[in-house]
Amino acid sequence: MSSDAFISIRNVDKFFGKFQAIDDVSIDIGHGEFFSLLGSSGCGKTTLLRMLAGFESPSSGEIYIDGQPMSEVPPHMRPVNMVFQSYAIFPHLNVRDNIAYGLRKQKLSRAKRYELVDEMLDLIALPGYGERKANELSGGQRQRIALARALILRPKVLLLDEPLGALDKQLREQMQLELRALQRTVGITFVFVTHDQEEALTLSDRIAVMSEGRVLQLDTPTGLYERPRSRKVASFIGTMNFFDATVAAVEGDKVAVEAPGLGRIHAMKPERAVSTGDRVQVAIRPEKIDLGETRPNGGTQSVEGTLENAAYLGERSHFFVRLDGVEQPVAVSSQNRAHGSGAMGEARSVWLSWDPESVVLLASD
Ligand SMILES: Nc1ncnc2c1ncn2[C@@H]1O[C@H](COP(=O)(O)OP(=O)(O)OP(=O)(O)O)[C@@H](O)[C@H]1O
Ligand SMILES: [Mg+2]
Repeated sequence: MSSDAFISIRNVDKFFGKFQAIDDVSIDIGHGEFFSLLGSSGCGKTTLLRMLAGFESPSSGEIYIDGQPMSEVPPHMRPVNMVFQSYAIFPHLNVRDNIAYGLRKQKLSRAKRYELVDEMLDLIALPGYGERKANELSGGQRQRIALARALILRPKVLLLDEPLGALDKQLREQMQLELRALQRTVGITFVFVTHDQEEALTLSDRIAVMSEGRVLQLDTPTGLYERPRSRKVASFIGTMNFFDATVAAVEGDKVAVEAPGLGRIHAMKPERAVSTGDRVQVAIRPEKIDLGETRPNGGTQSVEGTLENAAYLGERSHFFVRLDGVEQPVAVSSQNRAHGSGAMGEARSVWLSWDPESVVLLASD
């Protein structure tokens, strides 16, 4: 286990009968980090969180928190607190008693309890709400109360299982910002579960992308978006254009590939070794491609195609461009800056161009 890891998940497997829900997962999470588990339904996110909380035990492997192995430590003795997806707060208690609920076992004076609750109400931007009944709150307010109830115990780790899942888009975005600010203020380590890639990118210091119980890639939001290692990760995070290719030469930090429809182009050299003749895929994000009516000059790479489809979306426009020898049309996305830009007729010849730094080389899968 690395020395600065606050939570260390070491080679953890979890079986439910014969079904393997978690497959050899190893993750180190730093102190004060906002760490997210991202993956589609059923990939094992909740199972991993429940093992951190102690509600499930690993079938093999070990979990350390703050340097201590957790295998013999029951949930209530762990320095963690969990906020569940269904944000259960007690409907018969008012806001103050909901937030103070976890304090009841500590021998605190009423004045001290009230002081701590008031601090929390300030923190979640609901000052003066102490006497409100729980059923007189909006969904977002209830969610914040559930967070306050977990935070007041000052856990070293807060486990959040899709805590914003039930909120509408606007409230969700507002709560994302508040959650991030809150985490920075209190300096608690957050392990956050979501299947929403945008949410994970916005909030996290680092993200583990999971699929079928395994971690596909563990990286920063920029790393995942700019340098996905596999096609699965690349297509899970945002939109991506994929092209089959063959490695023609390795040239410093770049790799020259031959790709039908694109010709000989350059891609960034991945961490893993590649050699001439390897069958690979190259990928380019739609917003990294420029679309023009004439052949661009200068150092960028370019190819001619036919504009098949254009969609004006206000802030952006989306284009689909057909290339000879490529099955899927290429998606291009560009920001509409000047008035009237993006109004381009369809079925006409256009030039696509891009910077080699934007081309990612993936393992063929
Ligand atoms: N107690 C259990 N017994 C048997 N199988 C289980 C149990 N708990 C979870 N599973 C299975 O393990 C897999 C992972 O479940 P988990 O709840 O961790 O998924 P998840 O990533 O949280 O999905 P979601 O996004 O839908 O919440 C699923 O296939 C699920 O059916
Ligand atoms: Mg879940």
